[in-house]
Amino acid sequence: MSDGDGAPGRLSGRLVALGVTGSIAAYKAVELLRLLTAEGADVVVLLSASASRFVGALSFAALSRHPVETDVLELQADGRIGHIVVADSADAIVVAPATAHWLGAMANGLAADVVTAACLATSSPVVVAPAMDGDMWTHPATQANVARLRDAFAYAIVEPDTGSLASGQSGVGRLAELPRIVDAVVAAVAGRPIRQPDAGARPPLAIAPVREEDLGGRHVVVTAGGTREPIDPVRFIGNRSSGRMGVALAEAALGRGASVTLIAADVSVALPVDRARVVRVETADELRSALLETLFGSPPAPPVARFDALVMAAAVADFTPRAPAAGKLSRGEGLSLELRPTPDILAEVSRIARGAGGPGSPGDGVIPRPVLVGFAAETGSLDRAPDKLRRKGLDLLVANDVTEAGSGFGSDTNRVVILDAEGGREALPLLSKRAAADRILDRVAAALDARDAAGQTAAMQERNA
Ligand code: PMT
Repeated sequence: MSDGDGAPGRLSGRLVALGVTGSIAAYKAVELLRLLTAEGADVVVLLSASASRFVGALSFAALSRHPVETDVLELQADGRIGHIVVADSADAIVVAPATAHWLGAMANGLAADVVTAACLATSSPVVVAPAMDGDMWTHPATQANVARLRDAFAYAIVEPDTGSLASGQSGVGRLAELPRIVDAVVAAVAGRPIRQPDAGARPPLAIAPVREEDLGGRHVVVTAGGTREPIDPVRFIGNRSSGRMGVALAEAALGRGASVTLIAADVSVALPVDRARVVRVETADELRSALLETLFGSPPAPPVARFDALVMAAAVADFTPRAPAAGKLSRGEGLSLELRPTPDILAEVSRIARGAGGPGSPGDGVIPRPVLVGFAAETGSLDRAPDKLRRKGLDLLVANDVTEAGSGFGSDTNRVVILDAEGGREALPLLSKRAAADRILDRVAAALDARDAAGQTAAMQERNA
């Protein structure tokens, strides 16, 4: 064990999912969680509805430091399906205690609860420790279900002990001694590589710092997804953006009390249409029009700012066909496309907001000064990022290497470096996109607070002058 003796635990680095079903022995699962943790495991708990009547999710969440999965239909904050993330990342699932009802559901593949659903969806070993009344245990139905789990599914069964039962009687059916269950988990994973050594691919750490509504009263505009540039009515030039990063930013800003406008190009994730103003666009030109109208009105009317922060996570095409064909092109003898560069939208927004030109822009730009955040999709090296920040006139630039596994396009995780206009550089570890979004918004909220404080000081000095 890693508890106290300094040696790495037998489950060091492993993610173990602990499925708890509705037996009186559910309280013992809390101690089992502690023992698994003491062996070095990272533990995430799946709680059936009836188990939660015996032990509350809060105890498990506090001890495991992960959100507890209780509902098959529930999505995680970053949009991932909780029990599937567990099924795909856990090194083993241990169901303890397993009730007679759960054994029956599992034997028949009935995935109405998170524990069964995760077991069905996993390719990892499953360890099952039943606990129930003695007659229930010896009933042929229960025994047939256990045999199916053991023989057909290759689950490791930790047979119940004999002793006094909750009914007051004595017999077989008590949950096995916990060290025996831990040993079964250790045996189940022995010799297998750790499935997801990367924290970002595992269930999120729960007890994410509770954030106050530090963007309350702010209007945050986010762009997400990839633009599509038409070649003809059926074909386009696109890119690999899924919209996950932008949508995570919008969700995070909503969670912090902001009013959010999300300008979404092509995305493959659900949009928060009920909580944010969502504008759908397809091309870079459409994105530009929608963004300029949102930020500056139509016709553009600075100097009153209509937004506090812009976070430009969209992957915008740099080139578009100069003359898209009106009808579907035929294969013919091949095709040469003439492309024209698209406008640099972010640089244009910055020029207008900062008063350095652009339609309707007065000398001083918009007041109060909005915070502008760009992204940089780089390949291999982030060396070009500081120049992008400067050229586009940004406060913050979030650079990501889109060739790194688990980072950039399409993944649920991202590893980003946040650069600021003062030359600062904050390298974040691989995080879920939602966690990365919150770290980016920490910087946005701080920049807005600093802006307002500076504005108040200036106003006071003017009054006193
Ligand atoms: O959507 P996901 O699958 O979650 O992937 C996330 C992401 C990889 C798309 C995201 O993290 C990201 O890097 N977005 C920026 C992609 C991009 O266009 O990078 P860029 O280096 O080409 O552009 C720099 C900045 O200028 C970006 O903020 C971009 O939105 C903006 N831009 C680019 C071109 C253009 N014509 N006008 C712009 O305003």
